[in-house]
Amino acid sequence: MEITNNYTFQGELSVPGDKSISHRSIMFGAIADGLTEVTNFLQGADCLSTISCFRNLGIEIENKQDKILIHGKGLHGLHAPKQVLDVGNSGTTTRLISGILAGQPFESTLNGDVSIQKRPMKRIFTPLSAMGARFKSLNNNDCAPFTVSGGQLHGIHYDSPVASAQVKSAVLLAGLYADGVTSVTEPVLSRNHTELMLSGFGANVTSCGTTASIEPEPYLKGQQIQVPGDISSAAYFIALGLITPNSEILIKNVGINPTRDGMIQAALAMGGNLTLLNERTVSGEPVADILVKSSSLHGASIGGDLIPTLIDEIPIIAVMAAFAEGTTTITDAQELRVKESDRIAVVTENLSAMDGKITPTDDGMIIEGGAPLRGTCIQTHMDHRIAMSFAIAGLNADGVTTFDDEKIVTVSYPDFFEDIMRLTK
Ligand code: S3P
Repeated sequence: MEITNNYTFQGELSVPGDKSISHRSIMFGAIADGLTEVTNFLQGADCLSTISCFRNLGIEIENKQDKILIHGKGLHGLHAPKQVLDVGNSGTTTRLISGILAGQPFESTLNGDVSIQKRPMKRIFTPLSAMGARFKSLNNNDCAPFTVSGGQLHGIHYDSPVASAQVKSAVLLAGLYADGVTSVTEPVLSRNHTELMLSGFGANVTSCGTTASIEPEPYLKGQQIQVPGDISSAAYFIALGLITPNSEILIKNVGINPTRDGMIQAALAMGGNLTLLNERTVSGEPVADILVKSSSLHGASIGGDLIPTLIDEIPIIAVMAAFAEGTTTITDAQELRVKESDRIAVVTENLSAMDGKITPTDDGMIIEGGAPLRGTCIQTHMDHRIAMSFAIAGLNADGVTTFDDEKIVTVSYPDFFEDIMRLTK
């Protein structure tokens, strides 16, 4: 794949289904009673890992491409897996499934790719062990591969040191199997898809500020779920429309849950011409069409409570910042160090290689925008969001941009390059 500049981008597109919501639809459908039917499911590698794990746990899942049918067996219907559960590249699969496995009367082993084997799992081992599950990291490094032996779980209150929906969701899911109420308080509210969708399946979940609580042993009933488009995928087209001269892109059917909409806030704070159209609610989630037009962007300060709402979008925000006049400062984002790659280091490596002016900090980065970027070979470090962010940079950089491994985009957006081509004028 070779990317060059001098194009404009016009037209409309629908980005694929939300990754977080797609994962949850499979997991909750599996432990609900009866049929769950999911449309606009993300057919990306991560969500296919979740499907394969639940098949391995004895759940029949039909992937008909236009819809997914999950034949749920209820809270206590999973069987011990016959093989190691292969979580691929997916942190969400690993951490959320561990919450469910913590409540099962059998042992499971989880493993994934080289990237997942470096991701910290102590953050879920700690609360789930306090509830009564047992974990063993096979390389003694608190990462995958690991085994989880389910136990008789106790309800706990957990004060999470990190604002992480994956940690919160793991504890809440284990709470379904506990002997009392389970609650989690996080330092800043993270995405709340678990709370919204689990209530839709019939669980008694309550949220108050940054605390979510769940009652055990609900009757979960299969649902029909329409997955909204993924704002994390829309983010690349928001940036593309804003930074490319003479461009206008309408991105249809995008989830704009306030715990996920930081990309919209950041684009507006940087002076982006962005409009929300046709706002509505789909399967309990707020959705809109997003219209973006070429804009003269300026730098902004991005930090604090906004960070969890745009945590996956920081690589593309860094690219936007490189095309904005002045300084953009990103703070409070130390979680970037433990994503699919160390995104502070890897954004710095690639933006510097393109001649961008970026200084990494412990918990973020400082970008001086406005200098022209130059194409290079992007080092993706097995991180889909790095590949896509720097593809957008390459479309506005001098010279040719290539990738060490562009196929990594299949993790969350298999047709990413095709969708760009369709908008290219
Ligand atoms: C996710 C939560 C986020 C996000 C990840 C998906 C989820 O991770 O980065 O891509 O679906 O719950 P953390 O909650 O661990 O920050």
